[in-house]
Amino acid sequence: MDAISVIRTKRDRGELSPEQIDWVIDAYTRGEVADYQMAALNMAILLNGMNRTEIARWTAAMIASGERMNFDSLSRPTSDKHSTGGVGDKITLPLAPLVAACGAAVPQLSGRGLGHTGGTLDKLESIPGWRALLSNEEMLHVLDTTGAVICAAGDGLAPADKKLYALRDVTGTVEAIPLIASSIMSKKIAEGTGSLVLDVKVGTGAFMKTIEDARELASTMVALGTDSGVKTVALLTDMSTPLGLTAGNALEVRESVEVLAGGGPADVVELTVALAREMLEAAGIKDADPAKALADGSAMDVWRRMIAAQGGDPDAALPVAREQHVVTAPASGVLTRLDAYDVGIAAWRLGAGRARKEDPVQAGAGVELHAKPGDTVTTGQPLLTLHTDTPEKFDYALKSLEGAFDVAPAGTAFTPNPIVLDR
Ligand code: URA
Repeated sequence: MDAISVIRTKRDRGELSPEQIDWVIDAYTRGEVADYQMAALNMAILLNGMNRTEIARWTAAMIASGERMNFDSLSRPTSDKHSTGGVGDKITLPLAPLVAACGAAVPQLSGRGLGHTGGTLDKLESIPGWRALLSNEEMLHVLDTTGAVICAAGDGLAPADKKLYALRDVTGTVEAIPLIASSIMSKKIAEGTGSLVLDVKVGTGAFMKTIEDARELASTMVALGTDSGVKTVALLTDMSTPLGLTAGNALEVRESVEVLAGGGPADVVELTVALAREMLEAAGIKDADPAKALADGSAMDVWRRMIAAQGGDPDAALPVAREQHVVTAPASGVLTRLDAYDVGIAAWRLGAGRARKEDPVQAGAGVELHAKPGDTVTTGQPLLTLHTDTPEKFDYALKSLEGAFDVAPAGTAFTPNPIVLDR
């Protein structure tokens, strides 16, 4: 077998054979297939697609590239959630302790920011002392003793995806449904969760811009999970506007703690509770009430234990960026649009995300929203506050916000998108 013939098959719109797929994933993981050859194959897949049989085999080959974890020793059923990525999407932070407080074990292997979307690990690392990297034994210990763990996937889990994902990020091949579905599901199946709820984002701030593409991605992932014995459910959720009132690492931790304290923005609470219900149902836990576990402080108790178990101080002050810049409303009326992608790019440019893989992120950087679509605003009132340690980035961030919002005359009717668009 050789890489050139595999690339040619897909370039010429052929179907990759199981042998070709197994060989190319294994040879790439071992370094026998070069990055430039895999990049060419990824681009051929992005342009010409893969059928469900090819996607299933590609996913299985990525799982086989590493180890599989096993949670059979735990006394509780496991349930995990994965979001396809959005702006202000801090849901994992309140959700994992909430579902644990309701009786499931939540092994949440998470990632870092990607492009304009934030990453759970980058957010949690703004808590002084908190560690994302745990050995498998440490991860099981935190999960067993607190009910939830949020950490980085170990090097042994789907190593083919680690290499492929980094390559796709820099070769314009992220937005391919077969590659996204196999990337996410190989990690989740190898992780060994019993059930999985997928939050498939749709809208400007998501990788899937249309409901049709999101539906295709969701059904591909649900089929992969179900065929591997993982009870898998997907929700399609709105990502045309940022979730909540913050986009940025420490800013989002602060908002998540507000939700765990029984407050927080209505959209974040609604989506957290909706996903918690799905996770509990998928895990076979009946009669739990996630809304009550937020209100009575039991989810907050799990959060505090979970953060402390990974070296974090749940009472420590969160980092605040050195400089702020306020963007004001240009007119009075009704805010009818606040674009998620533009806000995500602004947060990224302010330092909340990376320009290169090895760059550090700024814990305090990001965008704070003072109004959401549907709110009445008056000329000159603060709409957004930009936060950064590097004020020379304000101009660059402000450029991405040109045209990011619309203010319509007072009295204009406004119907918000529902948060959950489909199941
Ligand atoms: N998240 C992943 O883990 N992989 C992708 O390809 C996209 C989002």
